[in-house]
Amino acid sequence: MAMGCSKLLLFTYLGLQFLVPFTLGADPFFQSNCRSEPGNFTANSTYKANLDTIFSQLNRTSLTDFNFGFYNLSVGESTDDQINAIALCRGDRNQEQCNTCLNEAITDLKQRCPLNKEAIGWHEFCTLRYANRVIYGEMENSPGSCLRSGENASNPDQFNLALDNLLSNLSGQAAASGSLRKYAANSSELAAGLFQNVYAMTQCTPELSQEDCSACLTAAKGGISSCCFQETGCRIYRPSCVLRFETNLFYQNAVPLPSPAPPPTSTDGNGGNNTTATIIIVVASVVGFLIALTIAICIFMRKRKITTRQRVETVEDNIKAESLQMDFATVRVATNNFSDANKLGQGGFGAVYKIETSVHG
Ligand SMILES: *[C@@H]1O[C@H](CO)[C@@H](O)[C@H](O)[C@H]1NC(C)=O
Ligand SMILES: *[C@@H]1O[C@H](CO)[C@@H](O)[C@H](O)[C@H]1NC(C)=O
Ligand SMILES: *[C@@H]1O[C@H](CO)[C@@H](O)[C@H](O)[C@H]1NC(C)=O
Ligand SMILES: *[C@@H]1O[C@H](CO)[C@@H](O)[C@H](O)[C@H]1NC(C)=O
Ligand SMILES: *[C@@H]1O[C@H](CO)[C@@H](O)[C@H](O)[C@H]1NC(C)=O
Ligand SMILES: *[C@@H]1O[C@H](CO)[C@@H](O)[C@H](O)[C@H]1NC(C)=O
Ligand SMILES: *[C@@H]1O[C@H](CO)[C@@H](O)[C@H](O)[C@H]1NC(C)=O
Repeated sequence: MAMGCSKLLLFTYLGLQFLVPFTLGADPFFQSNCRSEPGNFTANSTYKANLDTIFSQLNRTSLTDFNFGFYNLSVGESTDDQINAIALCRGDRNQEQCNTCLNEAITDLKQRCPLNKEAIGWHEFCTLRYANRVIYGEMENSPGSCLRSGENASNPDQFNLALDNLLSNLSGQAAASGSLRKYAANSSELAAGLFQNVYAMTQCTPELSQEDCSACLTAAKGGISSCCFQETGCRIYRPSCVLRFETNLFYQNAVPLPSPAPPPTSTDGNGGNNTTATIIIVVASVVGFLIALTIAICIFMRKRKITTRQRVETVEDNIKAESLQMDFATVRVATNNFSDANKLGQGGFGAVYKIETSVHG
């Protein structure tokens, strides 16, 4: 039960998927796991109040930080009542779609696991987990859940080969993605001339290391044989990662990540100093260059003996004004980058540098 699919739901969801657009976006195949070992909370408890706080924080449609669909929340001070939650939206969901999904997942999870201290819910577009223990940074590939199409592939050999290759590529791609998001989706032709494709996606919670993400996806991929071997579609759910494939296109373009790739690796503690030093060097160089340029132009102008002194000053003033503007723009751009990185560093992604360090060194 732990490693395999805890629920083998036999239905042809390829056909039922058709209904999804008409069910107001809610996932009719919402999966959940209400953990019984950690026990139940009582209706009037602090635990319940903390859980409601988590839910209301996740349900705020104006969550200020989109964080590319990843949320790490913690509410409560005492060890007995503290709740840690992780929410992860699929990499092709924008902030609004992500919020909608989390809202639906909360509603479903409240119904499925009304008193459980610990639970996981898997919606088509997002995963939501909460527990009275640390879950952030922990790779967990059980308990899991699995949904299958129940329909056999018509070219099983080609299908398996193409799917295996595609999932390996995507798992590697997702795991190697940065600490902002670990998501990959793509398709593959079964074979030349067959005019059949298999579409797949893989995703881990982004705070995991590359190794942990790979391990989770490898385990998920291994679950195919026991859940949906040679079938045309499957969703494999794990706490730390999800995997899905279909014979039809089921994902959209990934939400773009910021174009300057995630901040380079830095050692703990002096990462900010390194960034600051880089910015100072860049700004100083630019300022120095502009001063030198201004002086060079002035000398050049004076040598050309421009008729009136006033004209020279005007030219100088223009150059000064321009160099000031360029300075400002340079600093603004640099500072923006810096404060963005810094914001990520202090907010929901405080431990990101740590994780990056452990990935690369
Ligand atoms: C919950 O606590 C309030 C007072 O804090 C009380 O009025 C209410 O009866 C309690 N409900 C339950 C189910 O214990
Ligand atoms: C989320 O918030 C909306 C209003 O902002 C509310 O209508 C909805 O019931 C809330 N959902 C949950 C699960 O709390
Ligand atoms: C916990 O609550 C569920 C209902 O949500 C109930 O079925 C179960 O027996 C409870 N477990 C314990 C240990 O009280
Ligand atoms: C799919 O193939 C298996 C054998 O590989 C067979 O037992 C099963 O009945 C088939 N299912 C359908 C829906 O055709
Ligand atoms: C997987 O990647 C290899 C190279 O890394 C490439 O040759 C192959 O075509 C890829 N397969 C798929 C299905 O994307
Ligand atoms: C999808 O796979 C093809 C073939 O392997 C590759 O050329 C393309 O760049 C991939 N697209 C993405 C978004 O990874
Ligand atoms: C994530 O939440 C945990 C509490 O579960 C907290 O210790 C950690 O600092 C948080 N990480 C970030 C980056 O916010």
